[in-house]
Amino acid sequence: MKKLFLATMLLGLFNLSAQTGTSKITIHADQGKNVINKEIYGQFAEHLGTCIYGGIWVGENSPIPNTKGYRNDVLNALKELQIPVLRWPGGCFADEYHWMDGIGPREKRPKMVNNNWGGVVEDNSFGTNEFFNLCEILGCEPYLSGNVGSGTVEELAKWVEYITSEGDSPMANLRRQNGREKPWKLKYLGVGNESWGCGGSMTPDYYSDLFRRYSTYCREYDGNKLYKIASGASDYDFNWTETLMKHVGDRMKGLSLHYYTCKGWSGSKGSATKFDKSEYLWTMGKCVEIEDVVKKHIAIMDKYDAKRKVGLLVDEWGTWWDQEPGSHPGFLYQQNTMRDAFVAALTLNIFNKYTERVKMANIAQVVNVLQAMILTNDSKMVLTPTYHVFNMYKVHMGATNLPLEIQSDSLVYNNRKVASVSASASKDAKGLIHITLANIDTDKDQKIVIDLPNLNVSKVSGTILTAKSIDSYNTFDNSKVVVPAVFKDTKLSKTGLTVTVPAKAIISLELF
Ligand code: AHR
Repeated sequence: MKKLFLATMLLGLFNLSAQTGTSKITIHADQGKNVINKEIYGQFAEHLGTCIYGGIWVGENSPIPNTKGYRNDVLNALKELQIPVLRWPGGCFADEYHWMDGIGPREKRPKMVNNNWGGVVEDNSFGTNEFFNLCEILGCEPYLSGNVGSGTVEELAKWVEYITSEGDSPMANLRRQNGREKPWKLKYLGVGNESWGCGGSMTPDYYSDLFRRYSTYCREYDGNKLYKIASGASDYDFNWTETLMKHVGDRMKGLSLHYYTCKGWSGSKGSATKFDKSEYLWTMGKCVEIEDVVKKHIAIMDKYDAKRKVGLLVDEWGTWWDQEPGSHPGFLYQQNTMRDAFVAALTLNIFNKYTERVKMANIAQVVNVLQAMILTNDSKMVLTPTYHVFNMYKVHMGATNLPLEIQSDSLVYNNRKVASVSASASKDAKGLIHITLANIDTDKDQKIVIDLPNLNVSKVSGTILTAKSIDSYNTFDNSKVVVPAVFKDTKLSKTGLTVTVPAKAIISLELF
């Protein structure tokens, strides 16, 4: 009777289901050689909807508690994530952005129309100084997306000078005039964005020439080293990658790639919160397809760059659903459920595996846009399930990736097979091993036997993210629907570890 009571309690606590599958993972702790680039856990903030205005920046005079204009609740939540890099100001916005409109006294800054996103008026009150100061507060690397589509070489060259020049140069003096004596450091410089589309509708040959030209004049001032990133392909556009590798080669340090878990670019993208099991399975399948896409782009890069000098940067990824009913058209504001948490978990597990070539990834976007970490509404803020995944996975940043093999059953949807279990493992500088696991099966728990040859482990601690249902989400009024909890269902033996992962759950384990 007591046993039955305990079992019922456990089932209730983590929604353990009556069915259990068995999986096996072998982790080769002695074979790790590649460090997981912490930039894989990067973020993206565009002048789009309420990402910047309202989401990050409220201005010094706002009744919303803020530090120099940045809202405190969002700052604190982002500090907790230890975000390594922040991409700005777009996206499509970047190729219509003229940086000189966003410097100097705010009341004097000219306005513009944000043609890409809702046709609203942009008052330029958040500009270069505001962005670089934000990165300093967050302790992250800035990643600047330069305007190639509608800008000039001179404009981009001067932006780099304004930010990084230390000497008595015209742009450095302009920066000083605007209250910033010391230059900032700028490493990541994107030369255009989606230059095949909103960034100028160019051909890859034409863009290759433009990249060579623009990047020539983006100088390295006073010891600042630039990591120049070419605007890359979307999804399956292998010809774009091939052309750039051929014509630009290692003149670029990085080549970007965009991949959205999205149903298509015309028509309905599906509701963020109302979906059935088949749509859920479709989502899982579309999400893991990124592995195939990444592998194929890497294979092309390998042909031209066997030494892997050029990095692949997935600087836009994540889910893209229909915008929340009633939200401003073109603002791409969407809710975020347990399904989105799985997309984050599965994708990050994949990026960790390809860290030798994947040097950075930036989920779209950090606040209030697409697969956001954080949602805000006036003074209210809520952390999404995706935020919690990033927080659980941050232990992988800068750790050594440990190769692993997974044997698990699969879920099938429309002839596409997706493994029930996804995993990643790493060893950090202190020697601690971290394993992240996801069981996407909505009905079956997974008893996972983890083989850890040649490893002495004496203690395990764990965190679980799960929910009553895959469409569960946090709201401003109930922010605790999908939150991490302590996970204890682990058993250590001489050869390894057995973990029972409940259905629809994501786990992070620390091994001592
Ligand atoms: O992230 C939203 C948009 O998606 C970006 O502005 C653009 O680069 C992409 O098409």
